[in-house]
Amino acid sequence: MERTYIMAKPDAVQRGLVSDIIGRFEKKGYKLVALKLVKPARSLLEEHYDSLKDKAFFPSLMDYMTSGPVVAMVWEGKNVVATGRTMLGATNPLESAPGTIRGDFSIEVGRNICHGSDSVENAEREIKLWFGEGTIDWSSHSQGWIYE
Ligand code: GTP
Ligand code: MG
Repeated sequence: MERTYIMAKPDAVQRGLVSDIIGRFEKKGYKLVALKLVKPARSLLEEHYDSLKDKAFFPSLMDYMTSGPVVAMVWEGKNVVATGRTMLGATNPLESAPGTIRGDFSIEVGRNICHGSDSVENAEREIKLWFGEGTIDWSSHSQGWIYE
């Protein structure tokens, strides 16, 4: 089953929005297979956001993302990479639709509260990067009520 890396950024932790982010994925029917609170090293974030290293906003992105703990998660389910991104909403919260996580809870692109992998390939890369220890195999009894 497809997996994605979702992260509650430091502003989500500080603002008490972690439960809202987790709750949306839980209520959708996706399955949580890994979760931890991490104070990420700058080097980990540089690797995570490697494709953005030449952007003018990269230094401020690094300051933002190292400003406090984040909640790192892996969620599993049908089409979870693309649907997870839809649930987060557009990168710039002023363009995120109401009903999305960013659209409901944030205003600024540099404080947009959550991250989601943008492709299946990047999800695999990010899960390895953040969860070297691996994820948890478990059977969810609700799956038969979620999938036909
Ligand atoms: P992530 O899920 O965090 O990877 O966001 P994304 O995939 O929707 O966007 P992208 O990967 O292009 O950018 C990564 C993060 O950099 C964004 O979520 C923002 O926090 C930040 N970012 C992107 N564009 C800008 C910008 O123009 N200005 C600032 N200050 N931050 C930006
Ligand atoms: Mg991205």
